[in-house]
Amino acid sequence: MDIICTEKELFVFNKIAAAAEALGVPCFLIGGFVRDKLIGRPTKDADIVCVGDGIELAHKVADSFHPRPSVSFFKNFGTAQIKLDDWEIEFVGARKESYRQDSRNPQVAPGTIEDDQLRRDFTINAMAISLNKADYGRLIDPFEGRQDLERRMIRTPLDPLQTFSDDPLRMMRATRFATQLDFTIDEAAFNAIKADAHRISIVSQERITDELNKIILCQKPSIGFDLLYRSGLLSIIFPQMVDLAGAEYIDGMGHKDNFYHTLQVLDNISKNTGDLWLRWAAILHDIGKPPTKRFEKDHGWTFHGHEVVGGRMVPKIFTKLKLPQNEKMRFVRKMVEYHLRPISLTKENITDSAIRRLLFDAGDDIDSLMTLCEADITSKNKQKVRRFLENFEMVRQRLKEVEEKDQIRNWQPPITGEMIMEKFGLPPGRMVGELKNAIREAILDGVIENNYEAAADFMLKKAADLKLVPVK
Ligand code: CTP
Repeated sequence: MDIICTEKELFVFNKIAAAAEALGVPCFLIGGFVRDKLIGRPTKDADIVCVGDGIELAHKVADSFHPRPSVSFFKNFGTAQIKLDDWEIEFVGARKESYRQDSRNPQVAPGTIEDDQLRRDFTINAMAISLNKADYGRLIDPFEGRQDLERRMIRTPLDPLQTFSDDPLRMMRATRFATQLDFTIDEAAFNAIKADAHRISIVSQERITDELNKIILCQKPSIGFDLLYRSGLLSIIFPQMVDLAGAEYIDGMGHKDNFYHTLQVLDNISKNTGDLWLRWAAILHDIGKPPTKRFEKDHGWTFHGHEVVGGRMVPKIFTKLKLPQNEKMRFVRKMVEYHLRPISLTKENITDSAIRRLLFDAGDDIDSLMTLCEADITSKNKQKVRRFLENFEMVRQRLKEVEEKDQIRNWQPPITGEMIMEKFGLPPGRMVGELKNAIREAILDGVIENNYEAAADFMLKKAADLKLVPVK
């Protein structure tokens, strides 16, 4: 074998080879599995292509296992899958295929292994390993994919305009592989993406977003966003982010380029979290800056309220990108809205009540918020960064102390709405809410102690102001 496989993999490939031989169809391992083995990356699922009927081959392979695994197949696409424990093997017949200009529906016809390799997206994904008796284990690499792996290059087997026209999602995939593997996109391919970026609009949003999320989950996502920006794809799929780009100057006063700042924040946070949604929060934290940007003669550039405006933009962006409309979105919105809170604390003398309020508002998301805020420190001035980080450590310490003392994170005030209604014979309504809020605020501000007696006492005084008389 030209690739190194585990015993289990070899056992399975031998079975596939035997089944293919019995059917008289040449078959090959192909695509991501071969690529990842050659780079030494952990492999995922394996793709098998045969010069014949992929579904028939899958059934024949399944027959040779005891117990027989089930075969799921899609007749329309001519593909079949077998699952062995958590390893999926996909079978397909070799094809020639092309996509019509106006549609994503491929026109497919049976083809040779060379035809099949030629229609694949990148040279590094078009390599095959023979599973046939005559040359079992030989690498079949007609487009110098192996060399491209060494040169760290994303290149298309055909003229890139053709390859991208066959499936425009490949423009996103090129960007994603370049980011995941830290490879360069070949110049001709990159120029083709620039020329044909608009064709991404015929691809479903789900497929685009799937690739975007894979880019975001890379070790250094800025590589991908920079490529998306420079190729023109970003302005089509996510124009609000492009609006962040550029620095304007008036009277010699400029502001930072918020696009590159955002990328820096995203890379920073990616060192500390693998959570997709927290990374999305980093991408969106300043998204409200372009619509709130003003130039004030005495102050220079301001972005007042950008966190609130940005927060409001989150649901719209999530809807457009078909990202989930659930607690994940609410989390991202909350992060965007609160992203200035911890940093504003480091500028003043921090009181217990300011810390309590932050803990109460952020709740269980406090650690995520602190991670975001820390990533937001991107000044080039080393001294400034050091001072910020030191202050930040202090806020972290105070958060810990106050939380230990007051346990505010998931805190509920000691007096509930029901208690208030019962005490004063009130129906649910504004008055109950007002009293409840007043008690909560008094505790958070440190006006009264955080216990039932102090809260009950305060409630009676406040109720007297409102001319309420207890019925019990
Ligand atoms: N492929 C392609 N064009 C696409 C998608 C896939 O030519 N738009 C081909 C490539 O040869 C690819 C193979 O199909 O290697 C399998 O695709 P997929 O499973 O999506 O990607 P992998 O290369 O396996 O990589 P990953 O699992 O990281 O997505």
